[in-house]
Amino acid sequence: MNQAEKERAAKVGKKLNVKAYIKAEIEAIRAQVGDKKVLLAMSGGVDSSVCAVLLHKAIGKNLMCVFVDHGCMRLNEAKEVKKVFKGKFGINLVQIDAEKRFLDKAKGIVDPELKRKCIGGEFIRVFEEEAKKLGRIEFLGQGTIYPDIIESGVGGHKAVKAHHNVGGLPKDIGFEGLVEPVKYLYKDEVRKVGKALGIPDFMVQRQPFPGPGLAVRCLGELTKEKLDILRQADFIFRDEMAKAKLDRKAQQFFAVMTNVKSVGVKNGARTFGYVIAIRAVSTSQFVKAGIVPLPFAFVTKVAEKIATKVKGVNRVVWDVTPKPPATIEWE
Ligand code: XMP
Repeated sequence: MNQAEKERAAKVGKKLNVKAYIKAEIEAIRAQVGDKKVLLAMSGGVDSSVCAVLLHKAIGKNLMCVFVDHGCMRLNEAKEVKKVFKGKFGINLVQIDAEKRFLDKAKGIVDPELKRKCIGGEFIRVFEEEAKKLGRIEFLGQGTIYPDIIESGVGGHKAVKAHHNVGGLPKDIGFEGLVEPVKYLYKDEVRKVGKALGIPDFMVQRQPFPGPGLAVRCLGELTKEKLDILRQADFIFRDEMAKAKLDRKAQQFFAVMTNVKSVGVKNGARTFGYVIAIRAVSTSQFVKAGIVPLPFAFVTKVAEKIATKVKGVNRVVWDVTPKPPATIEWE
């Protein structure tokens, strides 16, 4: 057993007892934080949502959530987060529109790891600035989960990629420490905890969305044009998956901006447009993933709809590669 495995065993045991975990974690948060404040990086995904509710239960108004729209969110995402967490749960939530700032910073960067590091670094700086505006905030909350730790090479595992929320904090971060209440849980366990905390099903079952967002699904340089195209294509695919009730068969499904342009024809005229890829995978722990056998007629319908409705796209391909050898995200 390496260090990370030992730490998980101590927190979770052989099989997760959800109620006991919640109780212990709330106590652990209170013991760590006391009457100090926590700033939580909310992404709208399951991990940070569960973190937010756990922290809210533990420290109430001393939790301040910050949602940064880094310009790489999915369609309507920022609005939905506000409605659920501010509206329904009454959690302190500040939303920051930082699209321009992030895109300016990422300009010209094409290497996937550098893009991740750029966005991760900018994220931390935005939070630091926000923390200053909000007064003294001692702790930084994060929705790190166990696979993030494994894949970032912590605890003796081999690094697969640099997840932005692990090990990427600058030394001058200015917080006393990190609070990571779901750090030793696998994704399915995080969902169980979320359900027990009373988070509505549609949020708990929501597919994972990486911290850097569409940045890991938009290949090459990040531009508003490419991201807007991707947002529309992705929305069409996810909407069609839900309408066809195929969303329950895949743990993750999304569109990818491949950054490849090819020739097509629209209204009798030649076009030169982007190739969008669609991907739907089934997995339990996200360490390995298989391909969801979407009905072929469904795939061709989605392809045609995306290539017809989204300006700038004239071709759609279906990614049928399992993990390994591919990863789930294209990057
Ligand atoms: P890969 O692409 O490595 O993805 O097969 C495995 C799972 O991790 C998600 N993912 C992330 N989650 N921060 C996260 O919280 C990240 O930076 C990140 N990158 C990938 C990915 O969507 C998949 O579910």
